[in-house]
Amino acid sequence: MSRIDELLSQMTLAEKVGQLNLVTAGQAVTGPARSGDMIENIRAGNVGGVFNLWGKDNVARLQQCAIEESRLGAPLFFGLDVLHGHRTIFPAPLAEAGAFDPALWEETARIAAREAAADGIDLTFAPMLDISRDPRWGRIVEGPGEDPLVGALFARAKVRGFQGADLSASSAIGATAKHFCAGGAALAGRDYAAVDLSEREVRETYLPPFAAAVAAGCVAIMPAFNSLAGIPMTAHVALLRDYLRNELGFEGVIVSDYTAIMELIEHGVAADAVEAAALALRAGVDMDMVSGAYLRLPEAVSRGLAREADIDAAVRRVLRLKEKLGLFDDPHRRLKAVADAPDALRERARDAARRSAVLLTNDGVLPLPTHIRRLAAVGPLADARFDMLGPWCAAGESDNCVSILDGLRAALPHCEITHHQGVAIAGDDTSSIAAARALCAQSEAVLLCVGESAGMSGEAASRARPGLPGRQRDLAEAVLSAGVPVAMVLSSGRPLMVSDLVARAQATLASWWLGDMAGHAIADILTGRFNPTARLALTWPRAVGQIPIHYAARSSGRPPDPDNPFTSKYLDLPVEPLFHFGHGLSYAHVALSRLRPSADAIVFGAHVVVEVDATNEGAHPTEETIFLFLRDIVASVARPQMELKRFAKVCLAPGETKTVRFTLDDACFRYLDAALMPRLEDGAFEILAALSADRRTALTTIVTARHAAISDNA
Ligand code: GLC
Repeated sequence: MSRIDELLSQMTLAEKVGQLNLVTAGQAVTGPARSGDMIENIRAGNVGGVFNLWGKDNVARLQQCAIEESRLGAPLFFGLDVLHGHRTIFPAPLAEAGAFDPALWEETARIAAREAAADGIDLTFAPMLDISRDPRWGRIVEGPGEDPLVGALFARAKVRGFQGADLSASSAIGATAKHFCAGGAALAGRDYAAVDLSEREVRETYLPPFAAAVAAGCVAIMPAFNSLAGIPMTAHVALLRDYLRNELGFEGVIVSDYTAIMELIEHGVAADAVEAAALALRAGVDMDMVSGAYLRLPEAVSRGLAREADIDAAVRRVLRLKEKLGLFDDPHRRLKAVADAPDALRERARDAARRSAVLLTNDGVLPLPTHIRRLAAVGPLADARFDMLGPWCAAGESDNCVSILDGLRAALPHCEITHHQGVAIAGDDTSSIAAARALCAQSEAVLLCVGESAGMSGEAASRARPGLPGRQRDLAEAVLSAGVPVAMVLSSGRPLMVSDLVARAQATLASWWLGDMAGHAIADILTGRFNPTARLALTWPRAVGQIPIHYAARSSGRPPDPDNPFTSKYLDLPVEPLFHFGHGLSYAHVALSRLRPSADAIVFGAHVVVEVDATNEGAHPTEETIFLFLRDIVASVARPQMELKRFAKVCLAPGETKTVRFTLDDACFRYLDAALMPRLEDGAFEILAALSADRRTALTTIVTARHAAISDNA
């Protein structure tokens, strides 16, 4: 009999459901409810895992209690939301996705895992893999943006980074793919709201990142709070059991989100806690985060609503997770891990941050001239520190964070940099705007540092009017009218609706939340020490009215035509976004030429190589991201106007031309047919090589693809 079966056979029903109970220790507050007396519950065998606690002593004390003072001595696991760093904070996921660099994504997860493990963490509730096309939704900052391919690559990189090659290693932590699924399409962008999508949209857009996470071996999955087509994800049998368990073969733990099981009552699908617990268990949810509903499972069994066999299956999965984490062999293994030297990690954090900030516009005001002597740094984000960490910053501390002002002063020691906040991030006071404007008028250039506070994005942070908060717009307009060149730095957790301000500023940098080294990274870009390379991982709308907006939309029977009134467009705004998916400037200028597939007629089963030349026509060396999109011109169902299939980076010296090579396989051409079955269909395909999803930057060619005919082999 295995160790797990042995332990299970000794457990009472109460001890079994105790293993399914995940409680919060409250060192971080990430939800509306608290857990009861933890020590007593651990001793009584009512706790299987603890989260929101870190630090060797804190963790050791509770683990010791579980091992020595509970009847069976089953070890606990310790969880935390380590999304973009633990003590060393890296760029928020939406920013880092813009690096379009799986190796970087994996590296920062690896570093975070080592730091978190050294603090006693066994499992992170990350990566967050919610695709979203709605900047009103505050959690868009936590995910990989709008594209399912990027989401899938991000998922794979993060799971590999967190879990490493050996999950029982003291420097590895388990990964939890979350939130399964489609919360990013919440009604009106409002967090936790209902989601209504076609099964096609769910399978084409929202599931691929989770399939990638499962393929990469993630040990846990967290269902989303929302309902999908009327079924709360926490009780979604078709997606949790049929898809995750049976179709993908996921054998890990499904852990509910915070009080989500009890929330089945609010969803209107359970009359009480016992029914809620039975529904979630039947759907395959193994652990109950904080709600306490699973402690009522014995009643569900006695009322014939739940089977003890399902409880046993859930307990086995939880115990197997602990075994994989090495906790049966050595419950304190991670407490022995030694964290890396912070200074070395800060250099990595600086590099990750530089590679995640997107230069949106630049009329040449950037990079700042080295001889600049009087610079004004104006706005409430100029000296912000904690905000630069963004939401979900785990054990990060503002004292470790370099503000934009800090970074500028370090980068330009001979420049007189005068700071004026102008206005607060939020609030109504405009009394200092005039003084701020006067300061600008005496400067050679202005850095206008505006945006959100970290708390304005992340969970429960949807914004119906996602523009500049407070009276920052008044400040911006005053600064932009001072007659001095303005570089605007937007720090936010979402694309902000600031198209008129972007049009007036001489340059705009989207810095998102860059983490500990934000200030140095932004200064490196502004001074030209680092050539900006990041691209947008999502579409940037002109206005809220365009939302939801994304590049891979299906066409209309009447596609937009400004010269034809009877076509799909707005009377009061262009249909084009402010910035396309993949947009981002460098200090060079790259042109594409000579797009050439290895064959114009492709036979499925054979790979096709697509080459394109990239030339740096600028005076700065650069690293460019080249995107390869595909359009299935005619298919049995309407296909997106373009879909990202590959991306690659190319480094180019001034004047240099290099050939970028992509290999396409059948998976690139396959799609879900009318019956939602994967299908390869003969026909013509448009291949686009581009610098973003803006077709105006694309080179295109048409290839035909078909199944091999018998005659082919004759
Ligand atoms: C929160 C979040 C989830 C997080 C969990 C634990 O409500 O929805 O992403 O992992 O609680 O903190």
